[in-house]
Amino acid sequence: MCGIVAYIGHRQAYPVIVKGLKRLEYRGYDSAGVALLNHGVKLYKKKGKVAALEETTLGKDLDGHIGIGHTRWATHGEPSDRNAHPHLSANGKLAMIHNGIIENYALLKQELIKKGYRFHSDTDTEVLLNFIEDIQENNGSTLEEALRIALKRVVGAYVIVLIDKDNPDTLIAARKGSPLVIGIGKGEHFLASDASPIVEYTKEVVYVNDYEIAIIKPDELILKNLGNERQTPFIQKLDLELAAIEKGGYDHFMLKEIFEQPSTIYDCLRGRLDVIQGTITMSGIRNNMDKIKNANRILIVACGTSWHAGLIAEYVIEELCRIPVEVEYASEFRYRNPIIHKGDMIIAISQSGETADTLVALENAKEQGAVILGVVNVVGSSIARLSHAGAYTHAGPEIGVASTKAFTAQLTVLTMVALMIAKERNTITRDRYLHLLNELNEVPEKVKKALEAAEHIQKLALKYKDVSDALYLGRGYNFPVALEGALKLKEISYIHAEGYPAAEMKHGPIALVDESLPVVFVATRDTYHEKIISNIQEIKARKGKVIAVITEGDEIITAMADDVLPVPEADELIAPIISTIPLQLLSYYIGVAKGYDVDKPRNLAKSVTVE
Ligand code: G6P
Repeated sequence: MCGIVAYIGHRQAYPVIVKGLKRLEYRGYDSAGVALLNHGVKLYKKKGKVAALEETTLGKDLDGHIGIGHTRWATHGEPSDRNAHPHLSANGKLAMIHNGIIENYALLKQELIKKGYRFHSDTDTEVLLNFIEDIQENNGSTLEEALRIALKRVVGAYVIVLIDKDNPDTLIAARKGSPLVIGIGKGEHFLASDASPIVEYTKEVVYVNDYEIAIIKPDELILKNLGNERQTPFIQKLDLELAAIEKGGYDHFMLKEIFEQPSTIYDCLRGRLDVIQGTITMSGIRNNMDKIKNANRILIVACGTSWHAGLIAEYVIEELCRIPVEVEYASEFRYRNPIIHKGDMIIAISQSGETADTLVALENAKEQGAVILGVVNVVGSSIARLSHAGAYTHAGPEIGVASTKAFTAQLTVLTMVALMIAKERNTITRDRYLHLLNELNEVPEKVKKALEAAEHIQKLALKYKDVSDALYLGRGYNFPVALEGALKLKEISYIHAEGYPAAEMKHGPIALVDESLPVVFVATRDTYHEKIISNIQEIKARKGKVIAVITEGDEIITAMADDVLPVPEADELIAPIISTIPLQLLSYYIGVAKGYDVDKPRNLAKSVTVE
């Protein structure tokens, strides 16, 4: 949530920052701004996307080798020019960008107002900045000292980066709870919320830890903790290619990411699944197997699409491993004083690895003695680092705000984890185990086949694009797929959609059914097939329009439904990975047909680093 970029070195800072901000727009796009240091602070900011900022800066003085930039997802204060970052301190010497929330800002603001401070924005950021300035001026402290004192009083989450007119060769940054990566170049440093703005300049990076302050000059990076003790920067090699974060000929990142799924799922299986030997190897799981297989209970904690992956994992793990599973919204879990026993295992699912609610829920559970197993996409992210054990989803950077390829990779990894545990616990027969290994191995090909329907789905999208509501129904493993399908439609096309267990629709949603309501059934052939056919009949009897995701060759449902979306046959436990594909495409094409910016849907952000 909010993207930050900063640069110090021999290049012009502005182009580096603006290019970086464009890569981080998935984190928020309510406003954008840049501050450059060159004989004073030059500040440019604008409501809207980074492109609007670029228009504002046309023909302006953009000279400077040190600068900070920000793309905002509004929390305190509406999206507007004046609430855009960077903010300037009252004396005009300091400029600051911030990602996160300062929870006690109101109290600090009151103190500052009493001292005569006036504020030009509604943001918590401007409060923190002036709080730092005030300490600096009253105590005669250096900026670094003032920052340390200020951060000890701050409650909340932040990454902040400051430039100081009086120290034109230094950037100062600090982190708690929000991500910060520093790229190390030759005589230059790059700072960003993730590695995507950095990768084309250097592959050497340092992930700043919570409660660390970074003092950065072109040739020097000093890390300290809040107690002013030097910390050794741990330099890591980035495993990220520039091509992975570009559109590669597709109209949108979302479409590119949907079409990447055969290869991302393959990458997820590669080196792990061996059908000939009949093995699954995931060292993060294997090395902790004693704790994992003896878990009394598994709690899955996640948000959004990752929570839907958790629901499917619940069905899979209970079925294969016979361990009770509960799936929790991280935001609820963290605040409701959950009961966690020593033998409990938490599975954290997160694409970004930075979702604030998930992160804090895990910190709490870890303190109470739970074993944390992370299923995370972004390597080196906070959740990955906090977990005791884990498996990366290896889906590569996901830039479209609506999650697609990360979801199917999560399902693939979670199924492999369940199979490994089931084998250790002897809760699966050899035949079933080998059958599911084969089924997993065939998923990339089947997903490829499902994607061949793109053109047909594009036409269907035109037929349904003007509906105001939609109902998504599924049973068993396909119930969470229905939830995910409905979420995708809401996110991308702003059409109200609800997901429901197909049988449960009789207890309420059926009242909505009339000739104008499309009902999307996820009805691939499985244990519940006959039951879902009855549910389709119930909708048809009330004149609802039925769109059904079916197993290829299902003539019964084809004859009943208004439109069908066939996918290749798969074991019911694996089917969600495939039946999700047409629903992703349907939402995408409806969103495009309505003329919306599908990569950056209104009000959403990809990485929700505020609670
Ligand atoms: C945001 C994104 C969703 C994502 C959710 C959880 O709402 O827009 O696509 O599913 O956060 O994010 P995570 O990174 O933890 O999976």
